[in-house]
Amino acid sequence: MTALDFTDRVVVVTGAGRGIGRAHAELLASRGAAVVVGDLGSAIDGSGVDGDDPAREVVDAITAAGGKAVACSADISTEDGAVELVDTALSAFGQLDAVINNAGIVRTAPFDEVPYEEYQRHLDVHYFGALRVCRAAWPHLLKSPAGRVVNTISQAMLGNPDMSHYGGSKGALFGLTRNLALEGLKSGVKVNAIAPGAGTRMAEAAADTLSPEVMEYMRTQLRPEHVAPVAAYLVHPTCTVSGEVFNVAGGIVNRLAILNTVGIHDPALTIETVAERFDDIMAITPDAIPQIVAPAQVPATS
Ligand SMILES: NC(=O)c1ccc[n+]([C@@H]2O[C@H](COP(=O)([O-])OP(=O)(O)OC[C@H]3O[C@@H](n4cnc5c(N)ncnc54)[C@H](O)[C@@H]3O)[C@@H](O)[C@H]2O)c1
Repeated sequence: MTALDFTDRVVVVTGAGRGIGRAHAELLASRGAAVVVGDLGSAIDGSGVDGDDPAREVVDAITAAGGKAVACSADISTEDGAVELVDTALSAFGQLDAVINNAGIVRTAPFDEVPYEEYQRHLDVHYFGALRVCRAAWPHLLKSPAGRVVNTISQAMLGNPDMSHYGGSKGALFGLTRNLALEGLKSGVKVNAIAPGAGTRMAEAAADTLSPEVMEYMRTQLRPEHVAPVAAYLVHPTCTVSGEVFNVAGGIVNRLAILNTVGIHDPALTIETVAERFDDIMAITPDAIPQIVAPAQVPATS
């Protein structure tokens, strides 16, 4: 297959100073994209700035390799920060074609020990951060010949120990992804999500919820560079799906499918019917209905 090229594409990547976001930014820049490397230099739990300027370091590496990139250290969890990030793309490159919402924070703790402020902080970075960047970017994505958004969710939205605040905020972002995908149908803006796995600073911060074997596997086998090709594909103009989620880790890529079971239909429904027919309600049969927003249009091969 011909190499997929990103020349003339301008992509904003949030949280691109470290880990998975850095891999996205470097891969896209190596294929010709102009990249805005957004990163505040946040502490892992979002409690403050850790003093580094990781966005600048990534921009230096990209430009040294002959790529195009600018840094932005705005806090995307605020409206002003999201606007500043988008304005950086416009003033540096004159357009914006795609956004990868990747910035993230984590701290693990049992449900009833997490202070409300921490629930709010996780929502502010993961849900409202992505929402604010999308809102600021949307008019420009509509002008692009192929506007694209990739949000970063997590398997934790389906349930992980001690991650109710983190997983809940990623679940909110999943709902936003589906609804923005519908919003983008007419204009052609495609909105998808990835649920990555990689042995980054964030994985280390969640180590106490994982077994030592899993942690060792993540450190040695799951590289951020394994995640970037999927995010890059999803922001390429040839990608036609929208509203989908892909699990991506260590070279494994699969689709997280949402479906409705066929269930039952009984207008005289009683509590007893629900109890008696519970197996039918639950059964995933071949007739289960996948919830697709925009199917892939695979080009004919003959
Ligand atoms: N590593 C994994 O296995 C894993 C699993 C599931 C989901 N994720 C998600 O992948 C994404 C990337 O995670 P990572 O593992 O590379 O983590 P990381 O900690 O290495 O990188 C995240 C980056 O986001 C930045 N950031 C945080 N809050 C910000 C804000 N308000 N404004 C701007 N930048 C901000 C941080 O400074 C940091 O550089 C996150 O959204 C995370 O939730 C990671």
